[in-house]
Order: sequence, then C-alpha cells, then structure tokens
Amino acid sequence: MFHQVVERSLTVADAPLELSVIVPTLNEVGNVELLLEKLGVALVGIEWEAIFVDDGSTDGTPELLTTIAQADRRVRLIRRIGRRGLSSAVVEGALASTTPIVAVIDADLQHDERVLPDLFRAVAREGHELAIGTRYAGAGSTGEWDDTRLKISRFATALASPIMKTRLSDPMSGFFAVRRDVLLEAAPRLSNVGYKILLDLVASSPRPLSVGEVPYTFGTRQHGASKLDEMVALEYLELLLDKTVGRFVPVKLVQFGAIGTLGVAVHLALLYFTLNMLGTAFAVAQAAAVLGAMTFNFALNNRFTYRDRQLKGFAWVGGLLSFYLVCALGAIANVGIGSLVYEQYHGWWLAGIAGAIVGSVWNYVASGWLTWTK
Ligand code: GDD
Ligand code: MN
Repeated sequence: MFHQVVERSLTVADAPLELSVIVPTLNEVGNVELLLEKLGVALVGIEWEAIFVDDGSTDGTPELLTTIAQADRRVRLIRRIGRRGLSSAVVEGALASTTPIVAVIDADLQHDERVLPDLFRAVAREGHELAIGTRYAGAGSTGEWDDTRLKISRFATALASPIMKTRLSDPMSGFFAVRRDVLLEAAPRLSNVGYKILLDLVASSPRPLSVGEVPYTFGTRQHGASKLDEMVALEYLELLLDKTVGRFVPVKLVQFGAIGTLGVAVHLALLYFTLNMLGTAFAVAQAAAVLGAMTFNFALNNRFTYRDRQLKGFAWVGGLLSFYLVCALGAIANVGIGSLVYEQYHGWWLAGIAGAIVGSVWNYVASGWLTWTK
C-alpha cells in the first residue's frame, strides 16, 4: 500500500517544487485572484506554489483564498488572528515552506511579478543567496510617488545604512527571493517587528550575503488601501533600535524611558498650571501633577510600548489603577535608594539620579508584570 502511494507521488506531474512565493495579505480581496493569474503567467517553467499569510482580514480575503486553495494545489493559506505585522507574516510563511528558494511579493500588484523569474534565477542559477527587486538602481523607479513619499523613503533608507551587513540599493523593498536555508539561519535573530523584513534579514544574518539586484518599477495600487500608517513608522524605529541597542537593553525599556522623560515635562507643566492659574497649595498642585503625569505615562505606554497587550474599556481603568500602585512602590524605592546613596556619598545629584533610575526600572519591570500582563 505504502509503496503505491510513494510511486504515485513521483509522477512527472508532481515534479518537486522549486519556489514558494510568500504573499502577506491584509484586506486584499480585490487583488488576490488577479495576482495568482499573473503569477501563473510569469512563472511558467518554474515549479511554484503560493503561500498566503493572512492576518485576520475582514473583507473576505481568507474565505476567497480558501475556495481557491481547495481547487488549486499550488495555493496554500496560513491564517493568523489579529494584525500581527507584515514581517512576521513573511517569516511564518517562509517557515511553512519546504522549497529551496522562497520569494516574497505584495498582494496588491505593486511589485512587478514579471521580475520574479529573474529574482528566482539569480538565486537558483547565478548562485546568489539573496536577490532583491530594486527601485533605486538601473532602470528601477518608484513609479507615481509624490515628492513627500520619495523623501520619506530616502530618509528611511539612509537611517538603515548603519545596521546593514550587506549593501543594498533598496533595503526598504519587500520584493525579493532568498535561499530558504539563509533565511532560516537568520530567523532566530530576526526582530520580526513591523514592515521591513528584507532590512531585518540583512541586519540579522550572521554574515554579509551575496546579493543580486533586479530593477523594477513600483506600481500603483488598484484595489484596496495601503496599510502604511504612523504605527508602521513607529515599528520601523523599533526595528532600528532593536538592531542597534537591542542587544544591551530591551526596546520596550527605551520606549518606556522616553515616555517617562516626556512625563517629567507633563509633570512640570501641570505643576506650573495648578500653582499659578488655580493658586492651590504646593502639596495639592504637586499631587495633581503626579497623578496627571502617571496617567499620561500609562496612556502612552498602553498606546505605544505595550500596544501588543493593549488594555481597553474596563481593563484600561484597572490597568491605570495598577499602574498607580506600581509607581507608588517605585517612588518608595526611588526615595529609599536615593537616601542610601546620599548618606554614603553626600552628592545630591548622584543620589537623585540613582533613585530615579532604580524607580524607573522598577516601574518598567513591575508594570510589565502587573499592569500589562502577557
Ligand atoms: N499578513 C499581513 N499582516 N499582511 C500585511 C500586513 C500585516 O500586518 N500589513 C500589510 N500587509 C500586506 C498587504 O496586504 C500587502 O499585500 C503588503 O503587505 C504591503 O502592504 P501595503 O499596505 O500595500 O504597503 P506599501 O505598499 O506601503 O509597502 C510596500 O512597499 C514598500 C516599499 O515602499 C511593502 O512591500 C513594503 O514591504 C515595501 O517595503
Ligand atoms: Mn502596497
């Protein structure tokens, strides 16, 4: 019995797959059929499959892909719950593939699929470990972008250069082919945050990679909307931070500290306002400022630092109260350590800073444990 099965699976029709095309989707129902059609035309002569990774699309994308995949063995679908990010979607798709080469392409037809065979060949035949579609070399172009988007993209590209182990003309590109083992080698070190999986890959690989570049023109989106928003920009900064200081301090601690610094400004502003405009006693003004600053810190950390565990509704209020408690204990630690240092060294500013650091680190650790529980 078993032998028969094996024999049957080795017919010519089932020649081994050579390429998995990973397609991340978030509400792309109007694009996926056309994309598959175009892939079919472009990839004639290559044994390929498409692995869609959908992050909880609500427009019927996963339902449509399910129907397509039932009829077409070249199409697979991975469904995830909630928006978990383009980079991690791509990695998950690549981890689910078994072909020697994986390629990544957007679902929205902005990447020119006719370039895919060149990317594939650059890896399969020309011996490159990675091949990227580039808008910034040769005949490549960003298409119909306006000046602002062009400037933002160039600025982001410039920011990326210190963390790249491999020189790329277009590290922001999400259009590339790579040897699966090269991706797997980098996988444990990937930051997996945000949009820029290619940049993450070349920054996380233990060594420089051999790269082929193929120019293409970035197309215009016909259906659906771009998911690029301020959060994507923030995630880009997180990726850069993780790749630079992430080895020494957690990125969340850096964000927590930055928000805490803003909180000090909020505190002073509130104190000034309450004292001068409302004319209250100092203790009352200081109490109002402390409460205001803590609330501000809680709200911002909840929105940004811990958006992956964001509290909403009743949980928001509960979280705020637990955050007050954490900060109160932090203040006690702050005063305690400060006093201890002051007794030893008599340097007021050293004691002040030591207390503040211990208090802040306490707030970070304890709120991660008590307020934003995993
Ligand atoms: N699974 C999943 N999860 N897919 C996502 C997510 C997500 O959180 N966010 C976006 N996508 C999918 C979209 O459905 C689309 O197929 C692709 O990722 C790109 O998203 P767009 O919203 O169209 O982004 P873009 O056009 O601004 O960005 C593209 O161009 C950049 C170059 O300027 C992407 O290809 C980037 O990777 C590329 O760097
Ligand atoms: Mn797009």
